Amino acid sequence: MKIKNLIIILALLFTACAEQKGYKIVDGTIVCHTPERPVGQQDMLGYAAEPMECVRVGFIGLGMRGVGAVRRWSQIEGTEIVALCDLNPEGIERSQKYLESAGRERAAEYIGTPDAWKLLCERTDIDIVYIMTGWQTHAEMALYAMECGKHAAIEVPAAMSMAEIWALIETSERTRKHCIQLENCVYDRFEMTALNMAQQGLFGEILHTEGAYIHCLDEFWSRYHNNWRLEFNRTHRGDVYPTHGIGPICQVLNIHRGDRLKTLVAMDTRAASGAKYWKDVTGQPCDHFANGDHTTTLISTEKGKVIQLHHNVMTPRPYSRDYSLTGTDGYAAKYPIKGFLLGERAQGNADIENLSTHRFVPKDVFDRLMEQYKHPITTQTEIMAAKVGGHGGMDYIMDYRLVYCLRNGLPLDMDVYDLAEWCCPIELSALSIENGNKPVAVPDFTRGGWNKIEGYRHAYAE
Ligand SMILES: NC(=O)c1ccc[n+]([C@@H]2O[C@H](COP(=O)([O-])OP(=O)(O)OC[C@H]3O[C@@H](n4cnc5c(N)ncnc54)[C@H](O)[C@@H]3O)[C@@H](O)[C@H]2O)c1
Repeated sequence: MKIKNLIIILALLFTACAEQKGYKIVDGTIVCHTPERPVGQQDMLGYAAEPMECVRVGFIGLGMRGVGAVRRWSQIEGTEIVALCDLNPEGIERSQKYLESAGRERAAEYIGTPDAWKLLCERTDIDIVYIMTGWQTHAEMALYAMECGKHAAIEVPAAMSMAEIWALIETSERTRKHCIQLENCVYDRFEMTALNMAQQGLFGEILHTEGAYIHCLDEFWSRYHNNWRLEFNRTHRGDVYPTHGIGPICQVLNIHRGDRLKTLVAMDTRAASGAKYWKDVTGQPCDHFANGDHTTTLISTEKGKVIQLHHNVMTPRPYSRDYSLTGTDGYAAKYPIKGFLLGERAQGNADIENLSTHRFVPKDVFDRLMEQYKHPITTQTEIMAAKVGGHGGMDYIMDYRLVYCLRNGLPLDMDVYDLAEWCCPIELSALSIENGNKPVAVPDFTRGGWNKIEGYRHAYAE
């Protein structure tokens, strides 16, 4: 009897503790708190702002990633680069040189103090604030930008916790400002072609999908400003960089456009390499490194689909985003080799010596499919994408589409709920892992609207 009481007390204590952390355990599943939408506030599904002839932008964070964005924007028509902000002058000066060589005026500068970015947000001659600092400052800057009446565009991942995700949703809904996560990998040529093929039914019903960020960062760890990236990995378990992997897949699966992410489970390996990198970069020993070398996350959807994600930035492996789609009638995969398999069925003549009767289509057929199903956006942008570049052109296409949609008053290709869904594995995978790989319910970030829009579509002007 006493033991039974003790168990009940421990269970109650555990539940109380979990609730304090913002979640409860219901039938063995971790359920996070979903804040109610304030009365009178509306969702941002299909939201479009008034068209603007010229998109006036301010950039914050001109490090390894940031200067390239200024260079790309300097080559996009209908834009004005109004202001640049960084703690250091080097990135600002390199950006100004790109503006000059594109025949543009030098932009206003905000340099040196950690809060100078607020002054940039407060300017009255900017429409959108484009944020490319380290992860720890993304949400804070985007929230302030929206409060100042600006749209916010944020590098990946835009939000690092559920609290940040909900704050961005609430603020975007309340201020009626776009809050877009700058996920470039959805614009890569293979992913765009496969999306087009999937939308035209070539793979049948897509059931299983894979995505990843597998990129050994050993050469990069020491280059991030103030070691922000290794610091986040040192202090957080879970898939801390899921957006490149999950983004293109969610578009194919029509997430919050007819389906929704439902349950997540994650596991990680022990953190074998992090402490070594920490010592290399800082010269200091590291007693505890949280992020496992390899993290695997599985997510099921309301409509019975499965997403498999991998994160590994620690061990030597070829770069991979692992993109694959498994459908009832076909298969697409990008890594390690690109291929499509279409409509082949075993003919009852299985060959015991050849266990692979289902194969990718031959190279000439693959090339023809890539051409035939080239996405209209790829066709529209390929000359400039080749000229301007940025990860093979996908960065240019991302910026071009953002400007195109804003100028034409269209919904953006990615909304604040995409941001939420693609970032939520960061905290939810950690929750699963830290609780013995328990399932975690993925909140409906649209709060009831996930089935309102039928299928993912890009918007076009007439
Ligand atoms: N989409 C992609 O393919 C891709 C590729 C690389 C990086 N990224 C993302 O881009 C972001 C930046 O990464 P990075 O590699 O350029 O990092 P970085 O450390 O090289 O650059 C960050 C910059 O932000 C500046 N900064 C920091 N705090 C600031 C503040 N308070 N005010 C003004 N400036 C401030 C720093 O001085 C630095 O120049 C990250 O979110 C990263 O995940 C995305």
